[in-house]
Amino acid sequence: MSGTDVLFRPFTLKSLNLPNRIVMAPMTRSKSPEQIPNDSVAAYYKARALGGTGLILTEGTAPEHKSATNDVNVPHFHGEESLAGWGKVVKAVKSVGGHIMPQLWHQGVVRHPGTGPYPEQPSMSPSGLAKQDKKVAEPMSDADVADVIAGFASSARHAKTLGFDGVELHGAHGYLIDQFFWEGTNQRGDKYGGSLEARSNFAADVARAVRAAVGPDFPILLRFSQWKQQDFAARLAHTPKELEIFLKPLIDAGVDIFHCSTRRFWEPEFEGSDMNLAGWTKKISGLPTISVGSVSLNMDFITAFRQAGAEISGIDKLIEMMERGDFDLIAVGRALIANPDWANKVRAGKLSELVPYSPEALATLV
Ligand code: FNR
Repeated sequence: MSGTDVLFRPFTLKSLNLPNRIVMAPMTRSKSPEQIPNDSVAAYYKARALGGTGLILTEGTAPEHKSATNDVNVPHFHGEESLAGWGKVVKAVKSVGGHIMPQLWHQGVVRHPGTGPYPEQPSMSPSGLAKQDKKVAEPMSDADVADVIAGFASSARHAKTLGFDGVELHGAHGYLIDQFFWEGTNQRGDKYGGSLEARSNFAADVARAVRAAVGPDFPILLRFSQWKQQDFAARLAHTPKELEIFLKPLIDAGVDIFHCSTRRFWEPEFEGSDMNLAGWTKKISGLPTISVGSVSLNMDFITAFRQAGAEISGIDKLIEMMERGDFDLIAVGRALIANPDWANKVRAGKLSELVPYSPEALATLV
């Protein structure tokens, strides 16, 4: 193997056959008025498929529950018109040979009640905690838990019916599923709270319900992160052993691929090894993993939100880690906003032609 070949090997899992290892990271756009993905959304994803991206993960979309989002321009993944819009997105991506999965994103208590498409709807979260010691809502009742899980399953079923290639559950960054994972926001006394293992039970039940809805061959991805928007230093697992405890219920529930969200993919996760979170997760679970974080950019995305943007950097370290087999797939976020043809340029050895990422690119998001 030479150069960037390792990125351009096919990847197969169940019904999924990807031409290469490059994944578009899910990135919120807020450009779907009335919660309906329109023609510009279809054109946006089609451009990334045409540019050689192996798998597109859509922006976070709202699963079927009124509490899912507070942004009126975030697309729903339910309701006739929104689903018709998604049907057009799939068609556009498939027309150029692309692959695409929706990311199902429930914001939990990060959603402010009184806003969004259903302002009267209370926000849902494990313990009503915005962060440790900051109670802003009531904990979810058993009925709420069942309804929200059913909403994830229903939207996943729609994804399959519409011809998507799988589904990603957003369990990262301090949103609902992660609010269950993290002790800072989960103080439940039932089967969903307490130990690290028990805190994985909500996500496991979501995955199980999704699996029942989509059947055995439809890939289920779960994105998780150590860091939270409520606390960038937060960690779910401090050691490989804890990571194993955290992952076990999710593996048992039938998650197919773990998408391990980090802001800088090259950073070692635990002492004594230079493997990152995706590396450790693959090693422990035996399942394929996706890594992510500042690929071909010199600044992570949270810092870049606050500063002037990010410059292009090399991908030698990425190639080294992939050749070593640390993880199977690599997600590219901002660099794919700025360069819809990121994959094709990298394949052609034209790294120097990549456009740096700037907040202006984010503002236009075409
Ligand atoms: C994001 N990210 C993100 N993550 C996620 O799981 N769901 C989402 O809807 C979003 N939305 C989002 C919007 C924007 C504008 C950015 C820049 C990022 C995080 C994203 O998927 C990715 O993990 C980070 O951007 C890191 O990758 P890059 O940009 O460093 O390659």
